Amino acid sequence: MTHRMLQPGRLVLASHNAGKLREFRELLAPYGYEVISAGELDLPEPEETGTTFEANAELKAVAAAAASGLPSLADDSGFCAAALGGAPGIYSARWAGPEKDFAMAMRNVEEKLQQLGATALDQRRGSFVAVLCLAWPDGHKEFFRGEVEGQIVWPPRGEKGFGYDPMFQPDGHDRTFGEMTSDEKHGWSHSTPGLSHRARAFAAFSKACLEQE
Ligand code: IMP
Repeated sequence: MTHRMLQPGRLVLASHNAGKLREFRELLAPYGYEVISAGELDLPEPEETGTTFEANAELKAVAAAAASGLPSLADDSGFCAAALGGAPGIYSARWAGPEKDFAMAMRNVEEKLQQLGATALDQRRGSFVAVLCLAWPDGHKEFFRGEVEGQIVWPPRGEKGFGYDPMFQPDGHDRTFGEMTSDEKHGWSHSTPGLSHRARAFAAFSKACLEQE
């Protein structure tokens, strides 16, 4: 598959989240991009009305590209419990409510698993998913998906991460994302795909659109 390369210059990150902005600035710095956030440009935050990660990433990237006239990158991510049909999935943030109470959101996941009698390891599979959409003002779009699979653990362990990190132990590791440093969790590097869903999506994106053959 051929991908459109992103020419060095200004790139909009279609997010109002300061943490995401910092992370993407650091990742894109070596490639010579100036990353501006949708917040800095005062772009409106579109409602996430899609029913898939791809659809939500697309509507954010397309809106930012149309409003700014610049290539725009958006991501959408979430935590999926296999036994719950992939929930909370695209509703991961919403399960935490307006107070962003992730202890409650994790309890909710665990209660639903308990209601299903999901106590065996193979009934407690989970994953994190991240989808990146890069949209150009002329309507061209590229999509990249990163996933990491593992076990859903209870009780939650670790104070280092955010969101659902403390209840997720990636395969091949004996610690949860909540017990890992950011470097361990993402494994940011330009030679390996990394561990986290976001690192893997970014690696696919940089290989396809940033790195010249
Ligand atoms: P987004 O900002 O719309 O992509 O929402 C992502 C939501 O998914 C966050 O609010 C978290 O609840 C959850 N999530 C995504 N990535 C992670 C992660 O790396 N660790 C923990 N939770 C995550």
